[in-house]
Formats: sequence, C-alpha cells, structure tokens
Amino acid sequence: MENRENIQHKSVINWYPGHMEKARRQMQENLKLVDLVIELRDARAPLASANPLIERLIGEKKRLLVLTKKDMADPIVLDKWLAYFKTQGIYVLAVNAGHDDLKRLIPKVAKEICKDKLERAKARGIRKKVLRAMVCGIPNVGKSTFINAIVKKRVAKVENRPGVTRSLTWIKLDEDLELLDTPGVLWPKFEDQDAAKKLVLIGSIKDEVVNKDSVVDHALDILRVYYPDTLKERYHISVIDEDDRILLKDIAKAMNFYKSGDEVDILRTQDFILSDIRNDNLKAISLERPDE
Ligand code: G4P
Repeated sequence: MENRENIQHKSVINWYPGHMEKARRQMQENLKLVDLVIELRDARAPLASANPLIERLIGEKKRLLVLTKKDMADPIVLDKWLAYFKTQGIYVLAVNAGHDDLKRLIPKVAKEICKDKLERAKARGIRKKVLRAMVCGIPNVGKSTFINAIVKKRVAKVENRPGVTRSLTWIKLDEDLELLDTPGVLWPKFEDQDAAKKLVLIGSIKDEVVNKDSVVDHALDILRVYYPDTLKERYHISVIDEDDRILLKDIAKAMNFYKSGDEVDILRTQDFILSDIRNDNLKAISLERPDE
C-alpha cells in the first residue's frame, strides 16, 4: 500500500516537522553539488513566500533570487522590491515564465553571478569549468514552470512532496552550465500569521491551515488601502465600508450572492474573492510592499 504521506490530492501539501527535516536534509545534500542556487519567490509577496531558513540553508553559496509571476504583481510595487533586494546586495530578477526568454536569460545571469568562480578555475588551469545550478522554493511559486521554460521542453512534473529521493539528473543548458532537473521543495512560513494568510492567497499553503475569515479579511484590508478602485469596480460597490463584515455583506448584495430569500451568502462571496486573487482576476495586485 502506498505510504499515506505520498498520497497527494492537491498540489499543496500539509507540512509536518518530518517533511521539513527531510526537505532540509535533501537541500543540504544537493547544495554540496551546486555552484549556484536559484531561489524562486512569488513577486506578489516576496517576503512571505521565502522559506524561513533560506538564508541559513544557502549559506555562502551564490544565489540568484527570481521573483516569479511578475505579470500578476503590481508593477510599481515590484520595482520597489527589485530595488530593495538590490540594495541588500542580492542578485534579483523578476520573470513571467510564459513570456520571458528564460532559456537565454538565466544561463547569462548565472555565469555573470559565478564569474569569480569561473575566473578562479581558469587561473588554476581548469580549462572548462561547468557550473551547476539548482532551483528551489516553496510550493506553487512556479518551480516546474520555470525549469520547463529554461529547458524548453517538459521535464517531469515536480510534485510538491518534500524529501522524495530521486536519482539526480543534470540538464545541460549550454557548454558551461548544468541544471538539476528536480527543484528543492521547501516548506513555507506557518508561524508568521500575516505571511501565512498571504501564502493562502497565492496558493502556497492550503486553505484549511488558516482560518478563511481571516484570510479574506486580510485580502480586503489590502484592497481597501491600496486598490480601492479595483475593489469598487470588480464588486460593483460605490462605498467601501471600514468594517470587513459589512463590506462582505455589501459585496454579496451587489454581486447578487444570496442563499435563499434575502440571506446573503458570505461563504460564496469569500470564495469568489479568494479565487479572484488566486486567478489574477483583479489584475496585478501585490500583497506586500517593502516600505510598509
Ligand atoms: P511549483 O512547481 O513551484 O509548485 O509551481 P508550478 O510550476 O506548478 O506553478 C504553479 C502555478 O503557477 C501554475 O498554474 C503555473 O502555470 C503558474 N505560473 C508559474 N509561473 C508563472 C508566471 O510567470 N506567470 C503566471 N501568470 N503564472 C505562472 P496552475 O494554474 O497551478 O497550473 P497550470 O495553469 O499550469 O495548469
């Protein structure tokens, strides 16, 4: 019989301490083999979508931070994030995997980041140093999509299962660079409640882990402050109430979401808002900003 841990009904798993420990161990093993770590985070929430121990895990290794799904993020806020990470000395890029030419871009940037290492190898007489890189990130940040886009063919679908050992396969991207075909799946932040709500909104942790009321309230608070016009237009309301309960009722009425008679359907309204955010129906919404 298949191990229960390995049965996966949704793409996002529940993480237990055992999962995290396996993921951490596997990441440490794979790190020994690479020159560069390509860490993916969601451009809409670049802090919340970081693994809590990522800095410690990566240590002294070279890192490229890639903010994925840039097409779903607010472009003004995204620019601020790029500047924020650059001032911290982090090599950062924002990408739209469906649009950008990652096959060309990523090897170029990888070699730029590892320039010192290549030069040192050359000075030691190693004529052809082949760089090795791996991709890592929490569930749903776009790891499989990213690898497929670089490789320009479908590699095995990466499951969000931590610590599933497979033999290592290196994909040759060009003469100087190889990529591990399987990304490191890292656990998301759970302890930080604010981050956990954002992670539910971007689909990196399951709805059940965080109370739905609090997730939708969090989304409404962001929309109220930063995207009031979008909020009004999408849900056909003219006034945005300060109280989330009242605002939800107003949206339910305006959208004609009723249970029976004149009782509004709050659950349906909440699911509708959640789905809108996950599917980018509100267009380019960022969930956190560096100047907050
Ligand atoms: P993972 O391996 O890190 O878990 O993530 P995965 O690549 O499976 O991507 C998760 C979802 O994010 C996928 O959508 C994928 O298409 C989408 N995605 C990845 N990169 C981008 C991007 O740059 N822009 C946009 N807009 N979406 C991106 P899905 O609905 O779960 O699956 P599907 O539509 O691919 O079937």
